[in-house]
Amino acid sequence: MEALPRLLKTREALRLGSGEEARIRGWVYRKRDLGGKIFVVIRDSEGIMQVVVDRSKAPPEAVEAAEEATIESAVEAWGRVEADPRAPGGAELRAEGFVLHSRAEDFPIKGGEGVDYLLDVRHLWIRSRRLTAVWRIRHTALKAMREYLESNGWWEVSPPILTQSAVEGGATLFEVNFFGRKAYLSQSAQFYLEALIYSLERVWSLTTSFRAERSRTRRHLYEYWHLELEEAWAHMRDSMRVAAELTAAAVKGVLDERVEELELLGRNIDALERASKPDYPAITYDEAIELLKRKGVSVEWGDDLGADEERVLTSYFDTPFFVTHFPKHIKSFYMKVDRDRPEVVLGFDLLAPEGYGEIIGGSEREDDYEILLSRIKEEGLDPEEYKWYLDLRRYGSVPHSGFGLGVDRLVMWVAGLDHIRDSIPFPRFRDRIYP
Ligand code: 4AD
Ligand code: MG
Repeated sequence: MEALPRLLKTREALRLGSGEEARIRGWVYRKRDLGGKIFVVIRDSEGIMQVVVDRSKAPPEAVEAAEEATIESAVEAWGRVEADPRAPGGAELRAEGFVLHSRAEDFPIKGGEGVDYLLDVRHLWIRSRRLTAVWRIRHTALKAMREYLESNGWWEVSPPILTQSAVEGGATLFEVNFFGRKAYLSQSAQFYLEALIYSLERVWSLTTSFRAERSRTRRHLYEYWHLELEEAWAHMRDSMRVAAELTAAAVKGVLDERVEELELLGRNIDALERASKPDYPAITYDEAIELLKRKGVSVEWGDDLGADEERVLTSYFDTPFFVTHFPKHIKSFYMKVDRDRPEVVLGFDLLAPEGYGEIIGGSEREDDYEILLSRIKEEGLDPEEYKWYLDLRRYGSVPHSGFGLGVDRLVMWVAGLDHIRDSIPFPRFRDRIYP
């Protein structure tokens, strides 16, 4: 038997010259039977390519397999590549062989279905070209951030997910029955990272964080991916610089490798170009309040900034930007109190432009034992529960800062999605934990 042509990804096969041989495999994305010819568009992890099965030229068993192939059937085809401007990608494969590996039953997604139905069949919907483009962008953003951290001296560590106390307040804690005792799913690895800076100085982790958010919004998940880092001997400005560089590295990585996916998603590339350089502006919370008032938003100094206020603020900027120095009472107890202005803390958020809002939250940490203890008491928390965290201020305390980046939020913005659920394959919702 003659050897079959080389197995290629659709992307590689499309780049071949006319007359060259290739074999591709994947799933049937589209199919049209025009009598003389059957057009089968095959989808694989790299894209799509059209296969033409000519009834007058292809072997009968190939024609039969192509006839039987349904949408999403697993198939393989080989033959010669021919340029054709009408075919997606500008070339097609003229089939000399076609094999049906697994015939798909009637595929339950036809197009035009609603959001709820598509969530019911999420395990099948994640194959869509749009979502596949998002998974590829997500991969590349994560890779770029990893590379940035690796080449700047950060140690990757592995903190626990089962924890004993709240980092970001009790309201969003998920309780777990841990052998008859109360435990919680982690909201943030921050306290563990803070403990680890005393051995490694610059640490980061990528974990799932859990938030029992009260309301359903476009930018909240109940389980999300959290890239956090913590640095010894670092002040707020140092962490802000890292936050900007990390974000810019992610954007640059995606621009370098995923333009096709961005285009498939209809993403405005210029907006991303501007975000690929880390010189992001910063405003204080006080200035933010002024800017909001100027746009007629009714806010007062001391109010927390929600998604609506953040959206208005983004209209002033065309790159990501920082908001710093928040009032103490709207932020977490661990943020360092500004010694010159004790009503504010050395905290910062990084907001993505184009209406997206917060993607990073960080701060310098309170490193003084007595002040931290009084902040814990002030917030009505039990110092006993934070004993080990307080200990870190008793044995060689140093100034330190860090932040958490919401990976799903970053992907949502970079990919230009209008809902965070499509930044992650299997989003968890309050009313569904399926599939
Ligand atoms: O601002 P947050 O709550 O800060 C912390 O958890 C700090 N302890 C992190 C640290 O300093 N190590 O959360 C950090 C980021 C937010 O900016 C946002 O991007 C993301 O996590 N985030 C969520 N993403 C999706 N769904 C949710 N429910 C999220 N809550 C926070
Ligand atoms: Mg925050």
